[in-house]
Amino acid sequence: MAMTDSIVFLNGEFMPLDEARVPVLDRGFIFGDGVYEVIPVYAKRLFRLDEHLDRLNNSLDATRIPNPYPESEWKKYLSQLVMKHDIEDQSIYVQVTRGVAKRDHAFPGDITPTVFMMSNPLKVTDTETFNKGVSAITLDDIRWQYCNIKAITLLPNILLKQTAIDEGASEAILVRDGEVTEGSASNIFIVIDGVIKTPPKSSRLLPGITRDLIVELAKKNHIECIESNFSRTELSAADEVWLTSSTKEVLPIVKLNDEMVGDGKPGPVSVNMYEIFQRYKSELKHNDD
Ligand code: PDD
Repeated sequence: MAMTDSIVFLNGEFMPLDEARVPVLDRGFIFGDGVYEVIPVYAKRLFRLDEHLDRLNNSLDATRIPNPYPESEWKKYLSQLVMKHDIEDQSIYVQVTRGVAKRDHAFPGDITPTVFMMSNPLKVTDTETFNKGVSAITLDDIRWQYCNIKAITLLPNILLKQTAIDEGASEAILVRDGEVTEGSASNIFIVIDGVIKTPPKSSRLLPGITRDLIVELAKKNHIECIESNFSRTELSAADEVWLTSSTKEVLPIVKLNDEMVGDGKPGPVSVNMYEIFQRYKSELKHNDD
């Protein structure tokens, strides 16, 4: 399906992408006043849907945008959107903005939030990319103080990511007050002496759905995993480093600020976690609920 033929969802209706229109006074366009989600779909099943809808609800609460639909309606529209696309593995983008109003910083009176959803083919980290790993650089976390909100206002993240790309790296790993927070569009894990560490959830990072799953799977598989802060120095000294996100899944970093991580290949704990994650996914695919 060509991109422009793709069916999208806008305010309760399904339509081809090139027919979807939003007024220029939408506060998403004018102020970046909105929140979003990215939900992976494997074999036409929405992955960790309840967790994604919970996080969406938290982002809406935190920004005081009324949740436009009850959970059952979200689920209905989302599964309709998935079924309108032939591709088995999809990445569903969901965006809710405060709505359309004359430009004024203060919240407008009674307006209806704008809801937009689209499906794109899901391109997760393939085995070849996993085996090669990627490089990253550390940068100061220039973002605001509510990084737990999945806000569409992503200018700092975009600038940080582009700085990494301009320097030949794939991701920027962010450091605030000496402590590592997350990537510009991913969460971070390190391994030191076989123990996994990831920063605890706080307003300094997005509570990643993939992050939570990795923590859960590590515990289930009796692999020691600690949620605790670590410094840039600890990061540089780590045996293994990897990123997680709904689209990256588990992605090893093998080069950090031009220095090799470990021996420059994905380490054994990363490989193990990646395999555990893939097994979890395929069990879900074969599990007809
Ligand atoms: N981003 N941290 C940030 C800043 C992110 O933007 C993301 C994901 C994550 C990982 O969260 P999850 O595991 O729930 O995908 C962490 C999405 C994929 C995006 O913006 O496209």
